[in-house]
Amino acid sequence: MNAPSVASLRACHPAEKAQGLHRDRYLCSRSLPPEIEPMFNCMWALTDFTEASGATRVVPGSQAWDWARSLEGVDSIPAEMPAGSVLLYSGSIVHGGGANRAGVPRVGMSITYLLSWLRQEENQHLSCPPEVARTLSSEIQGLLGYTIGNGSLGYFSPSRPAQGHPDTLPPEVALGTSRRGGIEEQKPF
Ligand SMILES: [Fe+2]
Repeated sequence: MNAPSVASLRACHPAEKAQGLHRDRYLCSRSLPPEIEPMFNCMWALTDFTEASGATRVVPGSQAWDWARSLEGVDSIPAEMPAGSVLLYSGSIVHGGGANRAGVPRVGMSITYLLSWLRQEENQHLSCPPEVARTLSSEIQGLLGYTIGNGSLGYFSPSRPAQGHPDTLPPEVALGTSRRGGIEEQKPF
């Protein structure tokens, strides 16, 4: 698992209703077998998450449930946590945002990671193109997908290949930083 699928800020305002309980893994496909967990989620609390402010509600153990089981009337618990904490849960866990009955917004930062061979929910290379990615650390560049996965996933073909260079390149070359895979450093595209 090496690619964030989506990174977003989420604000739940006063009087907002509860979100329906669901599993995030259904974004990928319902055809993936249950023993393959494609997704891992991090919900960072930027404000205090309390039951009254609509803290994310989770159903512990629900990753092992039969997917045909109805989610109607299922008991859930609020993931209460002070600002700066993080809730970690797999894509198979039943969960949903709670209703905000407090007088203040609840704000969280959601970062979802996917198996590297699945399509990301957010197109990270458009949200963070090479000219922006060049300013980030190599670790963040890798998380955004500016690395080769499993030997060949994620290569690109430059629109104007340079003479004498391969016509398929690892994405690091677009950042002008790569000497990996035996490919010499080139000017950024
Ligand atoms: Fe969700």
